[in-house]
Amino acid sequence: MNQDELKKAVGVKSVDFIESNSVIGLGTGSTVYYMIEELGKRYQNGDIKNIVGVATSSRSQKQAESLGIPMKDLNDVDHIDLTIDGADQIDKNFQGIKGGGAAHLLEKMVATNSHKNIWIVDQSKMADELGSFPLPTEVIPFGCEKTFSDLKAENLHPEFRLDENGKRVLTHNKNYVIDLKMGSIKHPHLLADWLDHQVGIVAHGLFLDLVNKVVVGYDDGPKVIECR
Ligand code: A5P
Repeated sequence: MNQDELKKAVGVKSVDFIESNSVIGLGTGSTVYYMIEELGKRYQNGDIKNIVGVATSSRSQKQAESLGIPMKDLNDVDHIDLTIDGADQIDKNFQGIKGGGAAHLLEKMVATNSHKNIWIVDQSKMADELGSFPLPTEVIPFGCEKTFSDLKAENLHPEFRLDENGKRVLTHNKNYVIDLKMGSIKHPHLLADWLDHQVGIVAHGLFLDLVNKVVVGYDDGPKVIECR
């Protein structure tokens, strides 16, 4: 199977974990696209009833709306039962990096308000340790050069993320993304703690101790791994 087929297989499989009468967090990305597509099918044919979706990006919001899935804002639900999202890298302890699509702030808010979280990934995302995928941060434009210097001084190899025109990428909240290209993250909790205390950084892509189940796409089919 090629990578896209693996993504589709895990996206479809993950919908088996969505129950009727529940509030579902909808992640963002090319793998989640297939999950939302399948959820739309099962909602339309009545296999899954009475659900509400909470999106983590305008892309996922629009796709879900186009399939007739009822949607609400995070402010308008009192809880989320389950969030299904993609990930950029998952280590052997099921710690993750997210934010390759610059949606990590909204994704983290939805994930941390969910009773359960499932990640769906193809096999290429699984690694012994995190860090070969650059770690995204989201920084406010005010004082961002200062924030950048602080990251550099910590030897975190920061780079502003640029779009195809060489302009700084803007997030949903009109912030910048600085990717940290360290190559290897030996102590994810220490790094997350340091990043959490930097005033100009509103989010980072380390999602630690969060995921309950991972669905990994292998050539012989999706494998469901219980994490915590
Ligand atoms: C979005 O910012 C990310 O966190 C995505 O969930 C992650 O990049 C996975 O995306 P793909 O499924 O497209 O690889």
